[in-house]
Amino acid sequence: MKIRACIFDLDGVIVDTAKYHFLAWKRLADQLGINFTEKDNERLKGVSRMASLEIILGLGNKIIDQDKKNELARLKNLWYNDYIRKMTPEEILPGSLDFIKELKKADIRVAVGSASKNTPVILDRVGISKLFDAVADGNNVEKAKPDPEVFLKASEMLGIEPEECIVFEDALAGVQAALNAGMICIGIGSPKVLKKAHFVVKGLYEMSLEKLIMIEKNVLS
Ligand code: G6P
Ligand code: MG
Repeated sequence: MKIRACIFDLDGVIVDTAKYHFLAWKRLADQLGINFTEKDNERLKGVSRMASLEIILGLGNKIIDQDKKNELARLKNLWYNDYIRKMTPEEILPGSLDFIKELKKADIRVAVGSASKNTPVILDRVGISKLFDAVADGNNVEKAKPDPEVFLKASEMLGIEPEECIVFEDALAGVQAALNAGMICIGIGSPKVLKKAHFVVKGLYEMSLEKLIMIEKNVLS
């Protein structure tokens, strides 16, 4: 097998934080008098904090200056942190730990590639900070997905070439970022939504080393 590393998006792949993002954004939207639904929240998956705020302001046709935007993003993050600080290891999505441990045993490196600046807090709260060989997140990259920067950074930190990495992603922007990085991408979610991914599974509980080898073989043949 050519693959030497797996890079995992965090939100929606290893943990389900979308519900906490939603509650915090909803509180902000309510305060601004903007109607914001769970369906709207789907558009924020994989999107950076400021870009998410822009989408919400757009829903309410609100135009505000940058200082005010910074203040609103700060408030949302405060509220979001109230939720994630209470996260526990039970919130790790099914199958994630077993699959990652199986990869490590087979000497495949594992990394996180996430847009979230809260990645270190979340990994710490759910007790998996030491599980990964590298963590690339919103704190050490500048360009948001679909730019490939976060995945290229993870491969650089691992010292493994991009074409030897496979990415696991639940967001459209993230799938595109992986493809832009020249990596194989396995989507987590619906094949109808994640059309561009090389292969789609419902969750990491559907993954195994054997399946990974099969997917790689099919993609590269
Ligand atoms: C992930 C989530 C997005 C979130 C982004 C930034 O990509 O899917 O919903 O907006 O991270 O997260 P942060 O924790 O830095 O606000
Ligand atoms: Mg995600």
